[in-house]
Amino acid sequence: MNFKKMLVLLGVLVIAAVVITACSTPGPVGPAGPEGPAGPQGEPGPAPAATDLTCTECHNDTGLVSVKMAGWEVSKHGNGIAMAEEYGNKSCSFCHSGNSFRDAIAAGTNFSNQEAGAVEPARQDCYTCHQIHTTYTKDDFALRTESAVALVVSGQTFDGGAGNLCANCHQARRYMANFVDKVDATKYAPTARFNTHYSSQVDVMLGVVDVNAALGVEGKASTHLKVEDTCVGCHMGANQNHTFKAEVATCVECHADATDTNVGGKVTELADKVAQLEKALLAKNLIAEGPEGYAAVPQKEATALDAKTAGALFTYFLYEEDGSEGIHNPAYFNTLVDAALEALK
Ligand code: HEC
Ligand code: HEC
Ligand code: HEC
Ligand code: HEC
Ligand code: HEC
Ligand code: HEC
Repeated sequence: MNFKKMLVLLGVLVIAAVVITACSTPGPVGPAGPEGPAGPQGEPGPAPAATDLTCTECHNDTGLVSVKMAGWEVSKHGNGIAMAEEYGNKSCSFCHSGNSFRDAIAAGTNFSNQEAGAVEPARQDCYTCHQIHTTYTKDDFALRTESAVALVVSGQTFDGGAGNLCANCHQARRYMANFVDKVDATKYAPTARFNTHYSSQVDVMLGVVDVNAALGVEGKASTHLKVEDTCVGCHMGANQNHTFKAEVATCVECHADATDTNVGGKVTELADKVAQLEKALLAKNLIAEGPEGYAAVPQKEATALDAKTAGALFTYFLYEEDGSEGIHNPAYFNTLVDAALEALK
């Protein structure tokens, strides 16, 4: 082996040693060095345009929110005063307090089994009926509920499209059966509140109030249940007005000649009959002037009313509380008022 070959062999050994060393397991990582100085601040990014925010789907200059708000403000949903008095009372808050209603719908309760009223009053406002500020997109105008409603007093089900939202609150709180006399169960003992409460519209449309049995009439469901989305179809119309006043434009879809809600003068005809009923009830001293118009004169035990007389009295208040001058169920009201007049003869 000459000197040159020796050098080559040595070189190969050195390389092998380096390779072998590199392949062997590394030692533990040393301690981290001190943090370096912060780098210079970068260029600011572009500010998000208002149009990039989904908020503008509603909060924009088309008046989408403000127009509905203007209508709503003049309706009792927007300015009625009962909500300020009754929000904390659990027997009233479901219907009279928008925030209680939202909680109850979420919990699946109704006005009869709500556990507590709200701690602060709120109106029947945008948030009561719509899902406002949930996804922060226009989808939030979806209604809070459109499910069919199991009615508390009648035990019936109301299924009227978008009108189901309204039916949760616009249903009777009590029937004649709540006034049965304690001594004679075939008789009735009216108080000054011998009525369904103002919220009887759904029961009237279905024609199921228990005054039927008392007067011996067959209650028929309203032909107006055929109006698309029931309550919403008439009270909000195609333009979805938020005053909740009935729209004559909707009536015209079926009553081609209608120029107002007194279709064919039938509203006045019924009102005339109700005026006769009022006269008959006054003559028998069954109603008397109270703080808010006529109220039933309280009776019990010896003066408790037979079913027909009580039925006539209840019919009068049913017409008054319903508030549609009979339009919710014209045929039903005509039948009831005729039977009531007959009962008082
Ligand atoms: C579905 C439509 C809709 C969308 C989307 C929407 N809002 Fe609203 N917003 C409303 C309505 C309706 C009201 C209630 C109107 C009122 O009280 O003046 C309201 C009220 C408000 C209010 C007044 C305070 C309050 O809560 O009542 C503020 C602030 C607000 N929105 C901010 C926003 C912001 C920020 C976004 C986007 C992140 C947004 N909104 C998205 C419909 C919407
Ligand atoms: C959360 C319960 C609730 C819901 C849901 C509700 N209402 Fe009402 N509504 C009320 C109460 C309570 C009043 C009376 C408020 C007052 O006088 O303080 C009222 C009043 C009204 C009035 C009288 C308005 C006026 O200005 O004289 C109409 C009409 C009406 N509602 C229709 C509807 C329709 C249609 C719907 C469905 C789109 C609906 N309501 C949904 C509780 C409700
Ligand atoms: C099932 C729902 C419901 C319940 C429960 C309810 N209300 Fe009402 N109440 C209504 C509706 C709906 C109206 C309005 C109907 C209309 O305008 O024709 C109304 C109207 C009224 C009004 C007349 C308001 C006005 O502006 O003239 C008073 C007062 C009232 N309610 C008090 C009460 C009290 C007190 C309770 C509890 C003890 C109560 N309500 C429980 C639905 C309800
Ligand atoms: C008593 C219930 C109720 C209240 C309170 C209410 N709305 Fe509505 N709103 C409705 C109903 C019902 C519709 C029709 C929706 C349908 O038929 O699906 C509607 C429709 C709308 C629409 C049209 C939605 C769309 O998809 O085109 C807008 C916008 C709207 N409401 C805004 C408001 C605003 C803003 C408020 C508060 C000032 C408000 N609403 C309060 C019941 C209500
Ligand atoms: C055929 C159309 C029609 C349908 C369907 C209808 N309504 Fe009415 N409603 C009227 C008319 C007309 C009036 C009379 C007052 C008016 O012109 O707004 C009225 C009156 C009322 C009142 C009394 C208003 C007041 O000023 O005291 C309430 C509350 C009411 N309706 C709620 C409802 C509810 C809830 C439903 C669904 C269950 C419903 N309506 C279905 C046409 C209708
Ligand atoms: C979907 C169709 C439809 C719509 C919408 C409608 N009605 Fe009717 N209405 C009827 C039918 C059907 C009758 C049954 C009596 C008949 O044959 O005239 C009726 C009967 C009546 C009656 C009793 C008439 C009589 O001859 O005894 C009155 C009053 C009335 N409607 C008012 C209204 C008012 C007010 C509106 C709008 C707020 C309205 N209707 C909307 C279909 C409709």
